[in-house]
Amino acid sequence: MSSLQLSALRGTEEAESDLVAQIDLARLPRHIAIIMDGNGRWARRRRLPRIAGHRAGAQAVRETVEICSQLGVTALTLYAFSTENWKRPQNEIDTLMGLLREYLRKELAEIHRNNIRLQILGHYEQIPPEVCQDLEDALQQTAQNTGMVLNVALNYSARTELVDAFNAILDRMRDNGNRTREITEQMIAEHLYTRGLPDPDLLIRTSGEMRVSNFLLWQIAYAEIWVTETCWPDFTRRHLLQAILDFQKRERRYGGLGHNGA
Ligand code: IPE
Ligand code: IPE
Ligand code: MG
Repeated sequence: MSSLQLSALRGTEEAESDLVAQIDLARLPRHIAIIMDGNGRWARRRRLPRIAGHRAGAQAVRETVEICSQLGVTALTLYAFSTENWKRPQNEIDTLMGLLREYLRKELAEIHRNNIRLQILGHYEQIPPEVCQDLEDALQQTAQNTGMVLNVALNYSARTELVDAFNAILDRMRDNGNRTREITEQMIAEHLYTRGLPDPDLLIRTSGEMRVSNFLLWQIAYAEIWVTETCWPDFTRRHLLQAILDFQKRERRYGGLGHNGA
């Protein structure tokens, strides 16, 4: 972590810097993936329309991106909109797309300044063209950045991602005259939308739901899962730091035995 990043972190409020001090910066999760859930419930509890929850969630996105980049996380993947989310009322979908544009308009300069490279995981076709245009501009602007990769899963389905990967592999096999005889794990990983990135070490889901909702099914094979009852709009830098701290206390066994052989 650069001294600039460290001083930015130290400048945070006391409870937060306490958490930072406990984190082992040498053992950070390299890739954090987040299912940002509970915007609707957050709003309902306040007798507000669901879209107010989505609006409030944008601040949590801002804080999460900032702290992950300051800590030096390699990749952050945020689940913003699933292929199943098209089932929602049109006005909610329109609001979500509008909020994405607003987020880019307000945050792109800061993202770029922090050397963050934006990537979109998911299919563009169904996304309204004006949103696509903004996204493409943002992708282009940040394409050469060398800091944290910020993946936004948009119109995303993990099953579609796998089907896409298998089809790409089939194409490649045909191109080389069907000389390839078998598919390997490495080939699949190389054709996923997340190719080139480490698999998520830490998967966070807010609002207490215990499911993966078609998110990164291949990549989370050995991710540590951290679920909080907190709804996404109330998720702060402190929650993220706590999740990392808890992650660092876990023993990752990958099917083997623990450190003490038990
Ligand atoms: C997450 O919050 C945002 C998206 C899925 C786009 P929800 O809108 O799913 O909130 P709940 O689950 O209804 O509370
Ligand atoms: C998952 O949340 C998708 C996103 C966070 C974008 P959902 O709210 O759509 O998931 P389910 O319907 O509860 O499984
Ligand atoms: Mg939900």
